[in-house]
Amino acid sequence: MKSRSLAVAIGILAAFAVLAGWFYRYETKPESSPVSRGAHLATAAGCYACHGTSIDDPRANFRLRDSQWRGTGIAPIWEEEHSAKSIVTWVTHGVPESKRESHENLLMQMPAYGDDGHLTAAQIDDIAAWALAVGMKGFQGYDNLDEDMPELTPEEVADLDEGELVLLGDRLSRQVGCYQCHGELGQGRIDNLASFKGYIPGFQGADFLKLTDGGDPAEIRHWIEHGRGQAIESGVLGGMAKKYFDAQAIPMPGYAEVLSSAEIDLLVAYTLWLQEQGPLKAEAIESFAGIIDDNL
Ligand code: HEC
Ligand code: HEC
Repeated sequence: MKSRSLAVAIGILAAFAVLAGWFYRYETKPESSPVSRGAHLATAAGCYACHGTSIDDPRANFRLRDSQWRGTGIAPIWEEEHSAKSIVTWVTHGVPESKRESHENLLMQMPAYGDDGHLTAAQIDDIAAWALAVGMKGFQGYDNLDEDMPELTPEEVADLDEGELVLLGDRLSRQVGCYQCHGELGQGRIDNLASFKGYIPGFQGADFLKLTDGGDPAEIRHWIEHGRGQAIESGVLGGMAKKYFDAQAIPMPGYAEVLSSAEIDLLVAYTLWLQEQGPLKAEAIESFAGIIDDNL
């Protein structure tokens, strides 16, 4: 019967459409990390309004002293070396108890985001992870971009212990710009228009594994040399992946002519180390900073 087979055909098509929609939503589900969530929360919470975006972006304030308002600045978030705990205290309560009295003489005061119910404790932890990760720019490579990078052979790279791998991997990543696109400490989610998920993934999580054939060193090397994946472009949905890589606003540059083979080995080992750590929480970033400090 004609109408019956038509109904079956429509049924099959509808089921296929539902499945395809589900698959698409699953595949494009965004991934995040404490640092990338913290970065978006800091923008949403207006931290930059009062603190500026860096130590080169000053902000004005006034302080009452001897019944007179005098002009003063607001300390940038990264002027002092903070711990996860001190950032959480500032953002939760607006000011630590020990500084409350003097803080109350300021015209613009730090909001108590936690106590006032504007941010949850988990969100404040994410902001602490972000602030600590950005703070590490000062450790090596940020204002000292020409901090010496030793000349390494592939054998030496293979023999690096964990501390040296992290120190040199982090340094080289800063010097050649990996974090600019892949997020501070490779924690991901820098916006990228017209890309598959709308952002550039970091060096951890499921996105990284999907794009590197499960963390295959040869595949990571291919990305660094050519700015493109090999496995993902030749897979079942390779044509679609290729289209996205061609269309996205920010493509990845190929580093084949810029980096030595040993330097690429170093970055492969370092991104795999980051992948192993998983998304870094504030406490993990404190230990990360500790590893760098101990090995500098
Ligand atoms: C309405 C203005 C304002 C906003 C918005 C604001 N702060 Fe503050 N914050 C201050 C003031 C004022 C201080 C006291 C430091 C000073 O005056 O130099 C301070 C201090 C701090 C400190 C301690 C600084 C130091 O090293 O002494 C941290 C950390 C901090 N804020 C983080 C944040 C974060 C993160 C956000 C966003 C979630 C934020 N602040 C939003 C005004 C603000
Ligand atoms: C100008 C921006 C930019 C720079 C700089 C950059 N990348 Fe990429 N990278 C990308 C983009 C875009 C992708 C593709 C992501 C996508 O389409 O989902 C990518 C993908 C990757 C991938 C695949 C897995 C993943 O997590 O994205 C690796 C590995 C990678 N880059 C490593 C590096 C390394 C190491 C450096 C530094 C040597 C670096 N990239 C520098 C933009 C950049």
